Amino acid sequence: MRPEPDCALCGLCAGRTKIVLPDGNPGSGIIFVGEAPGESEDREGRPFVGRSGKVLSAMMEKAGFSRADVLITNTVKCRPPSNRDPFPEEMAACRPFLESELEGARLVVGLGKSACRDLMGYEGPMGAVVNTMCSIEIRGRRIRFLPAYHPAATIYNRELRSELERTMEIVAGELR
Ligand code: URA
Repeated sequence: MRPEPDCALCGLCAGRTKIVLPDGNPGSGIIFVGEAPGESEDREGRPFVGRSGKVLSAMMEKAGFSRADVLITNTVKCRPPSNRDPFPEEMAACRPFLESELEGARLVVGLGKSACRDLMGYEGPMGAVVNTMCSIEIRGRRIRFLPAYHPAATIYNRELRSELERTMEIVAGELR
């Protein structure tokens, strides 16, 4: 299930250039969920192709896999104005698409606060949950869920970067 090209289920349609659909290998069963498309993603129609995407890809490569080995998506498929966090009602409008992407997943990695809010209902500090495996229920099925730092949060913070590297090692272990 995918949004129609003229999707207007929430107000984000007003500012978008392209709807950003999942990218990578849906058969891997491993899905990274980011927050929302930014400027580069909105222009290209592909998730994580801007600055955060470069960080994400580099960390995957360091752990021995690539973005083509997993599926990458976002809580919402259209860029919020000025890159603000997506509102709960926008995530709710996009949720059926996310749920259909998560069908058959064996591991979901939630990149940052918005993904953890949307999928775990978590509102606390990321440091308390990062890299602690838990589970979420999607359409009546439990799926393992790994909360992780958003790549953008790790750019100027070494400690967070090593936590995201740890996330990638966990995922690499799953892919082996
Ligand atoms: N690009 C995306 O696709 N998602 C994010 O969360 C950030 C940048």
